[in-house]
Amino acid sequence: MKPTYLHAFTKPSRTEFVTMVRGEGARLYDSEGREYIDGMASLWYCNIGHGRRDMADAIAAQVVKLESYNNFDPFSTDVTDRLTDKLHALSPIPNNRVFLCSSGSESVDTAMKLARLAHVQAGQPERTIIISRGRGYHGSNFGGTSAQGLPLNKIGYDPLVPDVTQVDPDDIEALSVAMSRDGSRIAAVLVEPVQGAGGVFPPTDGYLQGLRKLCDQHGAFLIFDEVISGFGRLGTWFAAQRYGVVPDFTCFAKAVTSGYVPLGGVFVGSAPLRALEADSAFVLRTGYTYSGHATACAAALKNLDIIADEGLVERATHVGDLVSSALHALHRDGVLREVRGDGAVWAAGLHGHHDAQAVRDIAMRNGAIVRGIGAETNAFCPPLVATDAEIGRLMDAYASALHEHVKTVGA
Ligand SMILES: Cc1ncc(COP(=O)(O)O)c(C=O)c1O
Repeated sequence: MKPTYLHAFTKPSRTEFVTMVRGEGARLYDSEGREYIDGMASLWYCNIGHGRRDMADAIAAQVVKLESYNNFDPFSTDVTDRLTDKLHALSPIPNNRVFLCSSGSESVDTAMKLARLAHVQAGQPERTIIISRGRGYHGSNFGGTSAQGLPLNKIGYDPLVPDVTQVDPDDIEALSVAMSRDGSRIAAVLVEPVQGAGGVFPPTDGYLQGLRKLCDQHGAFLIFDEVISGFGRLGTWFAAQRYGVVPDFTCFAKAVTSGYVPLGGVFVGSAPLRALEADSAFVLRTGYTYSGHATACAAALKNLDIIADEGLVERATHVGDLVSSALHALHRDGVLREVRGDGAVWAAGLHGHHDAQAVRDIAMRNGAIVRGIGAETNAFCPPLVATDAEIGRLMDAYASALHEHVKTVGA
């Protein structure tokens, strides 16, 4: 029978699913009672691990007090104000203000809109062009779909948002040429500091610094999409700190709540803020019913305390070292073409005749969840609470899956 649920990023013809029913830390259990090590923190988000009673208590306490109240003019909620104070202090952007929404896609669309809007308010309405990178993933709303550098995800949705273009992902010269050509018409450059869903590509040396310089030269804003890298994944709270580059906007979501309740947001830096705050009669006409949702904010506050109290930002480096040394061993054995990553997000680059989706399926049968990205990449992004033994099981299961695949299709 056809399932009633039309799944995201799945063939509508698929009828069989792995149905998860329970989680505990880095472990998951499906409806058949099988146990898995979650090597992907679900979808790059569950840094604090699954099924936590302390999160349930914090969420329940907020629901019975006030589940939410809208934050449109003139309202706010106490828990939301507490969260933005806390996020403001954690942010890599000095003197920021925090916009809130419910997802990474909404955060990207909001940053794109605010970048254009700030230029309008500053008297430069001709600055409409947003440049992003090939291989980038910025969510699936229309702004993020237009800014993506993953062509398959754009098919069938034309016409997309105008004046949003992509350049080669690692070529700072290509960006320099594009920016010189369109100079005074550029609103912003939008990048993931470490490209995630496109296959886990850390920036090449000096690339992000080069971006900052070009944006300053041409009067464009720099937007970092830290939907994956934010909240500890790289061994720092944000990638901006890891790479020493301060953007004008930072998009975040996912690990801000570790996914217990959906939440996203944008840090807005002082340059765009100056423009948005200049006219006291100006009204910011964008936002969402659930902007500042009280229960999501309570979940975020608790989650951020857990990340700090359990030292998970520091632990990310250790978790990443375990994953990366297992992958480098496979590379030395010749079964992997390359290994990419930083902090606690890594990728195995497979040889051309191997199939990452088939390896993923075998790994699942071995009790390990990794992600297949196209045919050539398996990604790893475990919960930061995973124990050394669990990471060991994950990587052993992956290694056996890869060897089994190689045995079937040839080295
Ligand atoms: C870098 C990046 N930006 C945006 C998004 C979209 O986030 P969401 O799926 O919460 O809308 C994602 C999702 O994976 C992402 O990785």
